[in-house]
Amino acid sequence: MTETAQVREVGPRDGIQMVKTVLSAEQKLAWIAKEAAAGVKHFEATSFVPPHIIKQFADAGEVSRGALAIPGIEAAVLVPNLKGAQLAFEAGVPKVNFVLSASEAHNQSNVRRSTDESIADFRRIVAERDARGLKGKVIVNGGIATSFGCTIQGDVPEARVVEIAAILAEAGAEEVSLADTVGYANPAQVRRLFSAVRKATGSVPLAAHFHDTRGLGIANVSAAVDVGVLRFDASLAGLGGCPFAPGATGNIDTEDCVFLLESLGFETGVDLEKLFAVRAEVESWLPGEKFFGMVARAGLPKTFAARTAA
Ligand code: COA
Ligand code: ZN
Repeated sequence: MTETAQVREVGPRDGIQMVKTVLSAEQKLAWIAKEAAAGVKHFEATSFVPPHIIKQFADAGEVSRGALAIPGIEAAVLVPNLKGAQLAFEAGVPKVNFVLSASEAHNQSNVRRSTDESIADFRRIVAERDARGLKGKVIVNGGIATSFGCTIQGDVPEARVVEIAAILAEAGAEEVSLADTVGYANPAQVRRLFSAVRKATGSVPLAAHFHDTRGLGIANVSAAVDVGVLRFDASLAGLGGCPFAPGATGNIDTEDCVFLLESLGFETGVDLEKLFAVRAEVESWLPGEKFFGMVARAGLPKTFAARTAA
């Protein structure tokens, strides 16, 4: 049996938090529904942050509720604090992706508190979920931004990332994801850090969130696969970037990520030709934005089509 790999579309969150155009809730939901029709099953649909921090997500409640009505998908949301999680629980989301940073400097820039204060927030979020009777209904994921280095602070000690991952797992994270927020990671580092985090977190599933700032994004996916990671965030057309991390650019490109994983023999469930059509439509909504990714521009190789059919 072919092994499945998850490609999680984060375009409607990470992908559009720095773009100039504010999309309508209708467009965001159409984007998700069309990608769902192309076979994508996992999304980060929006972000519960104050509108004065990121205007794009003023409609987070509407988008997350709308995404619940799209059949066959899991639409997670990003939350930076307890307040965001409370709003997400009220919206009825199936999964909350909490974010903190291993870099103290980025945590201060991004969420205006120390990393330890964010860890305390994470514990409060799990407690709040349980108190609302949502354990088993809402998954809480602990995401560690700047796991591979930081444009503000520079080096981020690997021991600190491992320590935070272990704390999050012990505190109830049902998934731990390591994010290369600013595109500093390389494949050797990816294999080393995920292996160390795996040892420290036991059976908790691990996920990777890579950015392609310096061209190593897809190589990093391959390296993570080597050490057993099978869950990857990616953004349509490689859009994305953190507004609170200087020099941040786009996520790894969803189409290229699917292409890599399928080429390595994993099943993603995604129909790439259909995904290319969604990309073209979203491009028409975002004038002036740079669209990245290789396979959408080059087209699928004839050998790839033949292999898939077989
Ligand atoms: N969603 C909506 N409103 C929120 C909120 C949330 N998640 N968190 C706080 N607020 C509201 C508060 O209720 C308060 O409202 P009031 O002024 O009407 O009373 C106001 O925002 C300020 O709250 P405070 O707790 O003081 O927040 P802050 O100004 O210290 O900002 C964060 C902290 C975490 C909310 C902010 O830094 C943030 O949103 N960071 C996320 C950045 C991001 O999205 N980065 C990219 C993704 S990694
Ligand atoms: Zn990101």
